Amino acid sequence: MEPLVELEAQPNRGVTAGDCTVHFYVGKVDWMSVIEAVLIGAGQRGRDAFGGFALRNPNELKFVAVAEPNDARRKRFGDEHQIPKERRYSSYEELLAEPQMAPLCFIATLDAMHLPVTRLAFKQGYHLFLEKPMADTPEGCVEIARLGRKAGRMIQICHPLRYTPFYSAVKRKLNEGAIGRLVSLTMAENVGYWHYSHSYVRGNWSRVEDTGPLILTKCCHDMDLASWLVGSKAEAVASFGGQTCFIEENAPEGATKRCLDGCLVEAECPFSALAIYLKDKTDWPVSAISTDSSLEGRRKALEIGPYGRCVYHCDNTAVDHQVVTAQFSNGVSFDFAVRANSFHCYRTIRALGVEGELNGHMEHSEFTITRFSPGWGMDERIEVQRVPASLEGHSGGDSEVIRNFLRCYRESDFDSIQESLDIAVEGHLLAFAAEEARRQKQTIALDQYRSRFI
Ligand SMILES: NC(=O)c1ccc[n+]([C@@H]2O[C@H](COP(=O)([O-])OP(=O)(O)OC[C@H]3O[C@@H](n4cnc5c(N)ncnc54)[C@H](O)[C@@H]3O)[C@@H](O)[C@H]2O)c1
Repeated sequence: MEPLVELEAQPNRGVTAGDCTVHFYVGKVDWMSVIEAVLIGAGQRGRDAFGGFALRNPNELKFVAVAEPNDARRKRFGDEHQIPKERRYSSYEELLAEPQMAPLCFIATLDAMHLPVTRLAFKQGYHLFLEKPMADTPEGCVEIARLGRKAGRMIQICHPLRYTPFYSAVKRKLNEGAIGRLVSLTMAENVGYWHYSHSYVRGNWSRVEDTGPLILTKCCHDMDLASWLVGSKAEAVASFGGQTCFIEENAPEGATKRCLDGCLVEAECPFSALAIYLKDKTDWPVSAISTDSSLEGRRKALEIGPYGRCVYHCDNTAVDHQVVTAQFSNGVSFDFAVRANSFHCYRTIRALGVEGELNGHMEHSEFTITRFSPGWGMDERIEVQRVPASLEGHSGGDSEVIRNFLRCYRESDFDSIQESLDIAVEGHLLAFAAEEARRQKQTIALDQYRSRFI
């Protein structure tokens, strides 16, 4: 289906086909004009990553409506983007009950809401920019991809790492054959002790039952990168790991349920909420605890909210360490580890090929390529790629993944969006299968696993 793009909205004209209603926008794309979008969920990502991009790049993207139930967040986003009062909605249901207001819809609600929001947004004719994970079940991910195809609409999953200078350069080098045919890929994600405790012990992704397993909520990026870099589908996966750090038994003597309750070990605890959230720093992760960033506002949030809880007395169920091994159908073997217990937050990669090896550290924005050569140690050729460490989110990936979506929309490049989506779905299925493998202590055959959902 040819996408029709906007100049003049005629939202009352539309067609309904099956469960999809498409409202037509009539006109031609003005290549120089700003592209308009609506935002669902003005939380951390909606405001910082998506809203931030629009504010920094007013000639590229403009938000014209927002749906957000939190009054303070809705007002803040509405004011920052000069959205008229009548286009500030309290829920996605309200916004998406209105005729289509812009060609694009950015979705940054929490994970479990992605599928219902997506269903409605496609019905209203939007092209979607959807936060990862696509959905909190494998069925949901497959359904989202199917709905997009049926609606003839684009869907870009927010996997920013693929678009960082670092991973783009790694991919380019592998494609150019810098290490010959790829044989094995090793990757690690070291979450960082404070980041892990913020998001996966106290925060939004601490309870698998409410959101999804860590291998999905944190590492669908890594599963996506692996699928993208290897360039084929996974055949089999095994996984091990568990929850051994942030549990009641590990609570030091004298630890209270909340850090502000007179905890006897607060001053020496690396996870003290006072030390993390009540200092001078007010950007993320501190900004996640309250829209009131004053000391008083933050203190109140710690007294009553989830981020003031002792890390050993939470209701968390996410694992704090996990390893995954997989075999891809082109013969590449893959091993991956995610760990809470690291000082810094960083990812590493090691790719071994028949002619050499690549070793990289994303946060250092650097990798080396060492080619095998005769007379070992004599003629070894080392190529070091330094890519600029960007100050923007996800080492520059946040902006570039949005730019890619805007470009695809402008150029009606359905093919590359679809190719990208297919890889994203594979990465998500690999994550879900890895979790099933870990829970069942069994190797999962991906062909059989996929056939349950596709
Ligand atoms: N791509 C990445 O690297 C990356 C990084 C962090 C988070 N994420 C993902 O981004 C998404 C959002 O995460 P976040 O940290 O911004 O969470 P958040 O809780 O800060 O934001 C979610 C927002 O959705 C709003 N919301 C709830 N119900 C709603 C409704 N009915 N209609 C509209 N809005 C509603 C909430 O009030 C909240 O403001 C999650 O899916 C998360 O997994 C992605």
